[in-house]
Amino acid sequence: MKEFKVGIIGCGGIAQNAHIPGFQRLENVKVVACCDVVESVAKSVAEKFSIPRYYTDYAKMLKSEKLDAVSVCTPNALHKEPTIMALEQGAHVLVEKPIATSAEDGAAMVRAARRAGRILIVGFQERFNPYALLIKRFVDSGDLGWIHYNRAVYLRRRGVPTWGVFLDKKIQGGGALIDIGVHALDLAMYLQGFKKPVSVLGRAYTLLGRDKEAAKANIWEPWDTEKFEVDDNAFAVVTLEDGSFLVLETAWASHVKSTGTSNIYLRGTRGGAQLDPPEIYMDRNGVALDMTPMSRSKPDWREQSYIKMQKFIESIIAEKPLYAPGEEGVVVQSIIDTIYRSTETGRLEPVRIPL
Ligand SMILES: NC(=O)c1ccc[n+]([C@@H]2O[C@H](COP(=O)([O-])OP(=O)(O)OC[C@H]3O[C@@H](n4cnc5c(N)ncnc54)[C@H](O)[C@@H]3O)[C@@H](O)[C@H]2O)c1
Repeated sequence: MKEFKVGIIGCGGIAQNAHIPGFQRLENVKVVACCDVVESVAKSVAEKFSIPRYYTDYAKMLKSEKLDAVSVCTPNALHKEPTIMALEQGAHVLVEKPIATSAEDGAAMVRAARRAGRILIVGFQERFNPYALLIKRFVDSGDLGWIHYNRAVYLRRRGVPTWGVFLDKKIQGGGALIDIGVHALDLAMYLQGFKKPVSVLGRAYTLLGRDKEAAKANIWEPWDTEKFEVDDNAFAVVTLEDGSFLVLETAWASHVKSTGTSNIYLRGTRGGAQLDPPEIYMDRNGVALDMTPMSRSKPDWREQSYIKMQKFIESIIAEKPLYAPGEEGVVVQSIIDTIYRSTETGRLEPVRIPL
C-alpha cells in the first residue's frame, strides 16, 4: 500500500488536537514535517509527535519535502496563500474552516486546485456527526418531502475563545459568525442538499463583547473587553433558489439557558426533524408520530475529527472529494460575506449573494 507523506502548516490547537493525531492513527500515512512561524511551537510539536522535520517557513517545507498531502491549520486569513502554494507543489490540501476570510479568496483556492488537478477539502467535521448522518438519510430518501424551513442554531452562553488570534478581526475575518456560525451554516446547507443560496438579510453584532461582567463569566479566561473588535452574535435569514428558507442564529456570548445550545431543525412537507437528540416527526395511518432511533452513537468531536482526516486520505485514493469540497466552502463563505455586507448596509432589504 502506498504511504502518504503529510505536512502540517500551523501547529496550534487544531493541528495538535485533531490533524496530527488523526493522521497518525492511519496505517498508510506518515506526518513527515510540520511548520509554524513560531519556532519553539514547531520544534516542540515535532518532538511531541515524533515528526522527523520541522520548519518555520512553509514555502521552504513545501519545496524541500515531496508531500502528498498538506493540512492548513493557520488562522483564517492565512489559509489562502499556503493552500495555493501547496496545491501548486502537487499536494492535496485539507484546509481548516472557514475556507478563507472571503469567498473571493476561497474561489482562488478552488481554481488553484483545479489547475493542479489536486483535491481541496474544507475541515467540516460536523458532517460526520452521527446524528447528522442519520437525519440526512431521511432527507435524501425523500421521507421529509420538500424542506421549506431549516433553522441552524449554535449559541454559547459565555464561550469566547481567548487563546490565539480569535479576537483579531484582520486575521480572523470576523468573530462568532465566521468561527462557529460557519459550522452551523455548513451543516444546515449539507443536510438540506446544498441548494444554491440567493439572498441574505443578516446582522452581525458586538453585543456582549465590551461588557466586563459578561467577560468575567467566560468559560475560558475572561476576554479583553478593550480589545474586542469582532462580532459575538449573528442572525440571518437566507433564501435558497428552491424558495426555501434557512435561518441562522449564532453567538459566542448570549443570555441563553445553561451553557448554550447547538441544533438544526428541518421542516419538510412530509416530515420534520431535529438534529440533537435526533427526532423525526411524521404521520402514519392517521397518527402523528414523534420517532427516535433505538440506539445511536453520540457526537464526539475528536472521533469526527479523526474521520475527517481518514476521509481526506480516502478522497485522494478515490481521486475526488468524499466530503466538503472547496466549492461548498466557497458557497458557505459567500453567505457569511453577505451577512457581513447586509450588516454594513444597515438596510432591511435582503442582499443578493454574488454566486
Ligand atoms: N474544525 C474545527 O472545529 C476547528 C476548531 C478549532 C480551530 N479551527 C480552525 O483552525 C485554524 C487554526 O485554529 P487554532 O485554534 O489551531 O489556532 P491556534 O492559534 O491555536 O494555531 C494557529 C497556529 O498557526 C501558526 N501560524 C500563524 N501564521 C503562520 C504561518 N504563516 N505559517 C505557519 N504557521 C503559522 C501560529 O503560530 C499558531 O501556532 C483556524 O482557521 C480555525 O478556524 C477549526
